[in-house]
Amino acid sequence: MTKKFHIWTAGCQMNVHDSEKIAGILSESDYGTTGSIEEADLIVLNTCSIREKAEQKFYSELGRLRTLKKNNPNLKIAVAGCIAQQQGNAILKKFPYVDFVFGPDNIDSLQVWIGSGIQTRGNRKQRTALRENPGYHTKTLPMSREGRVRAWVTIMYGCDNFCAYCVVPYTRGRERSRPGRDIYDEVLSLAEQGFKEITLLGQNVNSYGRNLPEDMDFPDLLRMLHKIEGLRRIRFVTSHPRDLSEKLVSTIKDLPKICGHIHLPVQSGSDRILNSMNRGYSYKEYKNKIDMLIKSIPDIAITTDIITGFPGETEEDFQCTLKALAEIEYDGIFAFKYSKRPDTKALHLPDHVDENVKSQRLSEILKIQEIITYKKNKLLEGKVLEVLVEGASETNDKKLTGRTCTNKIVNFYGEKIDIGNFVMIKILEAKLHSLYGEKV
Ligand code: 5AD
Ligand code: SF4
Repeated sequence: MTKKFHIWTAGCQMNVHDSEKIAGILSESDYGTTGSIEEADLIVLNTCSIREKAEQKFYSELGRLRTLKKNNPNLKIAVAGCIAQQQGNAILKKFPYVDFVFGPDNIDSLQVWIGSGIQTRGNRKQRTALRENPGYHTKTLPMSREGRVRAWVTIMYGCDNFCAYCVVPYTRGRERSRPGRDIYDEVLSLAEQGFKEITLLGQNVNSYGRNLPEDMDFPDLLRMLHKIEGLRRIRFVTSHPRDLSEKLVSTIKDLPKICGHIHLPVQSGSDRILNSMNRGYSYKEYKNKIDMLIKSIPDIAITTDIITGFPGETEEDFQCTLKALAEIEYDGIFAFKYSKRPDTKALHLPDHVDENVKSQRLSEILKIQEIITYKKNKLLEGKVLEVLVEGASETNDKKLTGRTCTNKIVNFYGEKIDIGNFVMIKILEAKLHSLYGEKV
C-alpha cells in the first residue's frame, strides 16, 4: 500500500513552488498525496518567517500535530522552509516529535532521508539538513505542479540585498542564478506539456546572471525564453527598483509574450526611511524608474509592497508614503506592519513604532489604496480584454476565472472546455479585487 503525505505551506510564491518540489520528490518515492492530516504517514510543514504572524501560524500548526503523533507513533513529521533554516536544532529540542528539519536550500536532502528508509526501519533518530549546499542551484528536482495552465520556474536562489528588515538573506542564503540552459530546458518542457504561462521566480530577478560564468543578464534570459513555441505568457517576480534597467524596460516593450505587469516594491516614500532600510534608492530615483516604465509601456500595471511603522518612521515619513501612493496610483499593493525579525539590522535600530500607530497607518494606507484600485479597475469597464482561463471560480462552479496580461482577475460564465484557452472578455463590472465580464 502506498504511503500518504500531506504538505502544509505558508508564505510566498517561492515557498508554494518549493512545496511543489517537495511533493515531486515524495511522489517519485512511492508516496501519494492526501488532503487529510489524519490519513497521512508523513506531514511536511513548509514554513515562512517573513513576519512574526507567519511564524505564529506555524507554531500553532505544529502544536496540533503533537496529539496526532501520540495517537500514531509511526507518523513522521518534517519541518521545511525559512523557520526550519533559522531555528534548526532548536525545533528538534523543543518539539521532540519532529523527525526531520531541512532548509530551503536542502530540499534535495529529502530524497536522501526517504531513501534511507525512514519508515521501514522505524528509525526514530531526529535529523537535520541545514548546511550550505553549493550545487543546489544547478540541480533539477522532480516537481508535482499545481494546475496545468500556469507554472512557476525558479531562476535564482537567495538574496544579497540585506534590506534592514528582511530575514531572507539569512534563511535562503547568498544570491545564485540558475544556469540559463537549465531554465530554458525546464520552460521548453513546460510548453511541450501544454502550459501557456510561466512566472519566473527569484528574490531579485532583475539582477539575474550576476554570478554566472556565461555572459547573460535578465533581459537576455527573457529573450531566450521568448523564442519557445507554444509558450504564450511570461511573468516574473520580484524586481528590485535599483536593478530596473532601460534594457529591461525596452525588452518588456519589444517582446509581446512578456506580460504588461511589474511588481516593484517601494516599501516607503520617505528617503530617510529608505536609507535606513538599506534599499539603495531615493524616492525620486524610484519615481524616475516608474516614469520610464509608463513612458515606454503606457498600459503597464504596477504593483508594490509597503511596510508601515519601520523603526524611526515619523508622521512626516508616513505622509511621504501616502503622497507616493497618490502620485503613482498603483494597480494594487501589499502592505504590512513592520515586524521584528531575528538577525536583521532593523531589530537594533532606535525608536520602534508603537503597535497601535503601525495599525492605524496600515489601515489608512489600505483605505486610500482601495479607492485607487477601484478607480483603476473601473476604467476597464466596457473594454474587451484577452484572458487566460485558469479554472472554475471558487465561489460559483458555473463561473470561470482567469487573468489578463496585466494580472487582473476576471470572472465570467463559461464552459469548462475553455480552461487553458485564451478568450476575449468584455468587462461589465469592476470590483475591488476582480473584474466581471462576458465572453465575446
Ligand atoms: N516586516 C514587515 N514586512 C516585511 N517584508 C519583509 N520583511 C518584513 C518585515 N520584517 C515585506 C516587504 C517585502 C515583502 C515580501 O514582505 O514589503 O517586499
Ligand atoms: Fe518566502 Fe520570504 Fe517567507 Fe521565506 S521568509 S518563505 S522567502 S516569504
